[in-house]
Amino acid sequence: MWGIKLIIFIMSLAPTYQQFPRLCVTLDALRTKECCPAWEGDGSACGARSGRGSCEDVELSERPDGPQYPFSGLDDREKWPLVFYNRTCQCAGNFMGFNCGDCKFGYFGDNCDERRESLRRNIFHLTRAERNRLISYLNLAKQTVSRDYVVATGTYREMENGSNPMFADVSVYDVFVWMHYYVSRSALLGGPGNVWGDVDFAHWAPAFPPWHRVYLLHWEHEIRKLTGDMDFSIPYWDWRDAQDCDVCTDELMGSRSPQDPNLVSPSSVFSSWRVKTKHAFLYLIPYLKIISPIVDFFSLIMRQHKSFLRRFCSACTFLAGFGDPQTGLGSSSRLGMHAALHVFMNGSMSSVQGSANDPIFLLHHAFVDSLYEQWLRRHTPSPSQYPESDAPIGHNGDYHMAPFIPLHRNKEYFISSKDLGYEYSYLLDANQRLAESMRPYLDELQDVWPWLLLAGLCGGLVTVTVAALFRLAKRRYDAWPQKQPLMWSNEAEASHHNYQTAM
Ligand SMILES: *[C@@H]1O[C@H](CO)[C@@H](O)[C@H](O)[C@H]1NC(C)=O
Ligand SMILES: *[C@@H]1O[C@H](CO)[C@@H](O)[C@H](O)[C@H]1NC(C)=O
Ligand SMILES: *[C@@H]1O[C@H](CO)[C@@H](O)[C@H](O)[C@H]1NC(C)=O
Repeated sequence: MWGIKLIIFIMSLAPTYQQFPRLCVTLDALRTKECCPAWEGDGSACGARSGRGSCEDVELSERPDGPQYPFSGLDDREKWPLVFYNRTCQCAGNFMGFNCGDCKFGYFGDNCDERRESLRRNIFHLTRAERNRLISYLNLAKQTVSRDYVVATGTYREMENGSNPMFADVSVYDVFVWMHYYVSRSALLGGPGNVWGDVDFAHWAPAFPPWHRVYLLHWEHEIRKLTGDMDFSIPYWDWRDAQDCDVCTDELMGSRSPQDPNLVSPSSVFSSWRVKTKHAFLYLIPYLKIISPIVDFFSLIMRQHKSFLRRFCSACTFLAGFGDPQTGLGSSSRLGMHAALHVFMNGSMSSVQGSANDPIFLLHHAFVDSLYEQWLRRHTPSPSQYPESDAPIGHNGDYHMAPFIPLHRNKEYFISSKDLGYEYSYLLDANQRLAESMRPYLDELQDVWPWLLLAGLCGGLVTVTVAALFRLAKRRYDAWPQKQPLMWSNEAEASHHNYQTAM
């Protein structure tokens, strides 16, 4: 796994990167600390003229963070987004977005008044067309420069407090790779090598599930915007019974290259991808499989749940990852689930920061999100049960998730996916589930039905012809003088007639 080590090494050299609305990285916006871009629909900041939102001071919670991170005023993610902006758009009604130009999750239409629930499906239940679409959308996102977002290539200090903006264009996909890297990277305390590693604004503590939920929702949203396909949703990879990485085929997420097991097979679309790191702005490093850490967690699941619980419970009083909201403990039937998360984190911990480079990450996190959803439905915790204070930095209920702009608070996503406009197909009722699992077969059938019809017609034609010939032959035979009855009986005549009408 020299490749992954190389990436980690490179990443440890990388400066800070985070996503910023392109319209908010002007000298003026950075100087005034105001990120309230105009909505293109009416030209007013935050679409205020159309009642979509208004530019407001950012309100931060004063609740104390846990003691794990002993610094203050050094890292750009502290009190997000205050280092960069103290005013942002606050959207009204169902509007959302850095300029209130988008709809809240689950709402559609020009006025965001159309509520729709989307379904995240098992990747193996996608039709062939849907699978091809998924791969081509991923690829398009990787190749298309983001219209709305740029990433910062320096810290606020390196930007001389905003007077020297340092930003770069990246692709839609890589914006997300960087967000994940940025939220989990070490704190940069200033000066070379002066870092604090024991900090992570989105893993290891209660904000893990809600942060990743928002991350996937934004990802889905960006793909919809990019492709215009509002029906798109991320499929999930249900790895519960997988013996191996069964999505690692060239048709799906890419198999290993026979030549070099660290690389993706050249027959996969993804073999042309390049990993995003600071230096990979040069695109020198080929996309490396991180199959191994993911596959490793199957074998580790059962061994590791205990250490996970211990660690999680000490970090956050009750949430305990996926424990009972009252006691903080998991039931034994759910331990595999805690462990799955943990082991995923541990198994690829050394590459958490770079893990989003691999598109399997999305499928995996969609499934993890569905586990979170099951937990929410089972325990129906009230929002007040999310920790308000003393969680590791970034994880308090009212903390704004770094590095998202628009702003989201952790506890706002401590709610069912139904309230956010999506559902998982395996959580549907039994009949709907059956219909879901039939889809690929019905789809295949649809592909072949013209042929079946043709075959049927041909078969029918042959049958009819044979029957006609047979009847003709029989009539000829019957008409032979010796066989001709001397007299038609009434009965025979009647049945003959019936036969005719029955035809
Ligand atoms: C926001 O930041 C600007 C620039 O530093 C400052 O002038 C202004 O007073 C701040 N506003 C608030 C509400 O803190
Ligand atoms: C940036 O701001 C900090 C704190 O306000 C200040 O100490 C520092 O001198 C400023 N740096 C520059 C280059 O303006
Ligand atoms: C976590 O993973 C690393 C390797 O990825 C392994 O060496 C270590 O033992 C794991 N931790 C635990 C608690 O098993």
